[in-house]
Amino acid sequence: MTAVRLARRARHVPPMTDSRVASLQAAVPGLQIKTDPADLEHYGRDWTRRWTPAPLAIALPGSVAEVQAVMRWANGHAVAVVPSGGRTGLSGGAVAANGELVVSTERLRRVLGFDAVDRTLTVEAGIALQAVQEAAAGHGLSYPVDFAARGSCSIGGTIATNAGGIRVIRHGNTRDWVAGVRVVTATGELLDLNRGLLKNSSGYDLRHLIVASEGTLGIIVEATLRLAPPAQPSNVMLLALPSFAVVLDVFQALRARLQLEAFECFSDRALHHVLVHGAQAPFDALHPYYAIAEFATGGGVEAEAQEGRVLAAFEHCMEQGWIADGVISQSDAQAAQLWRLREGITESLAPYVPYKNDVSVRISALPGFLAETQALLLAEYPEFDVVWFGHIGDGNLHINVLKPVDMAQDAFVARCEHVTRLLVDALARHGGSISAEHGIGLVKKPYLSSTRSDAEIALMRGIRRAMDPAGILNPGKLFDR
Ligand code: FAD
Ligand code: MLT
Ligand code: ZN
Repeated sequence: MTAVRLARRARHVPPMTDSRVASLQAAVPGLQIKTDPADLEHYGRDWTRRWTPAPLAIALPGSVAEVQAVMRWANGHAVAVVPSGGRTGLSGGAVAANGELVVSTERLRRVLGFDAVDRTLTVEAGIALQAVQEAAAGHGLSYPVDFAARGSCSIGGTIATNAGGIRVIRHGNTRDWVAGVRVVTATGELLDLNRGLLKNSSGYDLRHLIVASEGTLGIIVEATLRLAPPAQPSNVMLLALPSFAVVLDVFQALRARLQLEAFECFSDRALHHVLVHGAQAPFDALHPYYAIAEFATGGGVEAEAQEGRVLAAFEHCMEQGWIADGVISQSDAQAAQLWRLREGITESLAPYVPYKNDVSVRISALPGFLAETQALLLAEYPEFDVVWFGHIGDGNLHINVLKPVDMAQDAFVARCEHVTRLLVDALARHGGSISAEHGIGLVKKPYLSSTRSDAEIALMRGIRRAMDPAGILNPGKLFDR
């Protein structure tokens, strides 16, 4: 699926009224700059849609040298900069609502090189995740980070957020695939971090500092990505679950018998919204919860043995009363149809501008945490449409709360923030994180201290000051300086 871009208004040629824009243009003569109101709106927001976009202008550098020149100018003129990729972010990290200069990587989309010996692909930061996956496949390999926004999120954005997605259970997060990054700092210096090395024990690994830095430490301009062997043949299974309590039993039963590529869950409310959005119902009856599992099938003799294991796993779960119904894909088209039921959730909810929680605990802490969370949600949101889904196999739960039609937006957000504070207490009891994969941005900033200690935040502040002395990179995001 390609995440939908927000609608754009008609274009007209802008007058460059702000003297700073003229100054930037004079400092970087060939730089493409947009100041059209429709562009300011388009580039000033991400998928959160909670803040009103109000950037100064949009800079679209076409080379690393131009990014460096823009940063030198911004640093010299104390102009705040918001690094911007595909703006599919869900935490407000790419929002520009306070007169910032948006620096978009949209024009930096080339594949720069493939190394068959190192099994790496070097790309510019603005390239879409899907284009990276396709380039890897073109070389007989794969880039295994994957999620529904693949067609529109940028590789730079996935690194800046340490994106997770649907294959973390098998392949890990974005961090695990970054072999090197080239980063332009706030003062315009170009850092070449780790240079694709597999082994490099030469002090602090600044590459990993950049991963999940949410545009606060520098602008990622290029990345060298590790590639995996080609994706194995796989099948997808959708299971209907009679209750919430059995989700983890099913997960453990499947994990013990199959090589899981993904294990995800969603509630009946999530399915409801996806069906309203045009997907096809998987079962005749409705069920309270669903699990979707993708597992490797292997080929030849192994495929037959695997089929036996799949049936054994299915029968075991049936006998225990953990599943009420199930289907297994017989073709790639059917697999895609089943995945649509899970991957279509975010888009189907987008018109409601949902309040989102994206939390995680260790897998071993899931049973206790999920039981507490379910009780909390039932008690605190009795009259709300709460849509529950997530990467349960990674210990990651997405809770989306939809605003009742007759409730004012401010009152709705206040109510959700109240529940988030209770959720934070449950997370603390179970040693979890307030952001599993979407990042802190603006949305989770008030809760950072629930996941990171004061000492950690003080260190992060120091690092940020050292790398961005004038405080121009994504101010107000992640934490205040
Ligand atoms: P943006 O939204 O443009 O930016 C995100 C952050 O990164 C901002 O702080 C921005 O300043 C910074 N940034 C962007 N580019 C750079 C750069 N070149 N250098 C430095 N900083 C930069 N996320 C998941 O983890 N897992 C999922 O399963 C998942 N599914 C999604 C499904 C849908 C339908 C949607 C809309 C979003 C989903 N997301 C998911 C969230 C989002 O796609 C990811 O966070 C993605 O990594 C953001 O990439 P982007 O290019 O859109 O970043
Ligand atoms: C997902 O898992 O679908 C994404 O993280 C998006 C979301 O949480 O809405
Ligand atoms: Zn997710």
